[in-house]
Amino acid sequence: MSGLLLLHVTLVVISLALFTWRGVRMWSGRPVDSRRAGRLIPDTIDTLLLISGVVLAYLWHVAPWADGWLAAKLAAIVVYILFGFVALQYRGDRRINRVSFIIALLVMGYIVAVAHTMQIWPWL
Ligand code: HEM
Repeated sequence: MSGLLLLHVTLVVISLALFTWRGVRMWSGRPVDSRRAGRLIPDTIDTLLLISGVVLAYLWHVAPWADGWLAAKLAAIVVYILFGFVALQYRGDRRINRVSFIIALLVMGYIVAVAHTMQIWPWL
């Protein structure tokens, strides 16, 4: 595994761990309110994750317009970000946070499966 891919996957693991922690805290009605732990660190990790992905794609000559799996992955990342945002930021009916959190985790599972198999439908 190349160093960059290792970095990318390490960032995925940290990002997912932070998202899960914040989601569980939100679920139990005690949202993380520390600026650093709740925003700055996760935002930095996620930015580095996206940058490492773009560099990987550039170096490995894969592009979303040529490789369907990467297009599917990017589309799923947008969906993940939207549901992740609602899961962590929405203030109101807590069921909306919870359902969004579960959908975001399922979409994340899809993203990892697509990245690993390089197939749009990884389970087929
Ligand atoms: C939420 C964001 C992301 C997640 C969770 C994610 C997840 C992963 C994972 C788990 C792998 C390793 C697959 C394996 O070898 O088992 C991977 C590889 C890769 N990712 Fe990402 N990624 C993300 C963002 C991106 C972005 C934004 C790009 C490009 C624009 C990208 C491009 C790639 C490429 C080119 C590989 C190498 C695929 C290969 O093994 O040949 N990733 N990603």
